[in-house]
Amino acid sequence: MIEDVLGAYWYAGAPGSGKTTRALRDAASLSARTGWPIVALDTVGAAQFDAIGRSGDLWDLARRVWGRGEAGAYWPKGEEDAERFFAVVWGGRRAHVVVDEAHYWASPYRILPGLSLLLRSFRHAEVSLHLTTQSFGDIPQGALAQAPRLYIFRNLAPRALERLEDYTGIEGSRIRALPRFTFLSWSGAFGAASEKPIDIIGSADLDSPGSKET
Ligand SMILES: Nc1ncnc2c1ncn2[C@@H]1O[C@H](COP(=O)(O)OP(=O)(O)O)[C@@H](O)[C@H]1O
Ligand SMILES: [Mg+2]
Repeated sequence: MIEDVLGAYWYAGAPGSGKTTRALRDAASLSARTGWPIVALDTVGAAQFDAIGRSGDLWDLARRVWGRGEAGAYWPKGEEDAERFFAVVWGGRRAHVVVDEAHYWASPYRILPGLSLLLRSFRHAEVSLHLTTQSFGDIPQGALAQAPRLYIFRNLAPRALERLEDYTGIEGSRIRALPRFTFLSWSGAFGAASEKPIDIIGSADLDSPGSKET
């Protein structure tokens, strides 16, 4: 059963469409099932991560997440720092990992080795990876080959829509027309697109996704 929560979940769409919020909520609901903590790479200092504990350095993050089993977020100072984060996750295992604005670390042209390793070896590391990105076109080819779960939010960029249509068969016109905070979910192999509007959540419960006490 734990097997089926492992893997990569990509959230792609325009800024403000609700990706980070959704990624954190999904990580939180998986965390409730597995008992494993959430650990987040807060690439751009997003407000959503204020609600889960922030760590100033990776030692503190590791103590918090794998020592005490609490949710933790880390804001990397650059690429080297992000690589060290992925190495810590690899060492720590058993976590629900949120990588916000993942296009900083992964694109069709280059990907940080530590992230690449996690994407290929999520079963071994026992992690779910929740990655947000502004465009479907940012997702590396290799990551698409792993039959990830996709959450497609509104997007207007023609090239991204074309690539999405090639890959999933979902028509660009449907993606352009998606209302804010709604998405299409699509998973892997068989090309079955399904429409699955998100429950609209009030601002009151937006501040608690990772702060689950156990
Ligand atoms: N389902 C929702 N219902 C109500 N407000 C939401 C919902 N999802 C996101 N928001 C709010 O909308 C804003 C943008 O959401 P965010 O998740 O940051 O988008 P993105 O990561 O795509 O830029 C945030 O202020 C967030 O709190
Ligand atoms: Mg975001």
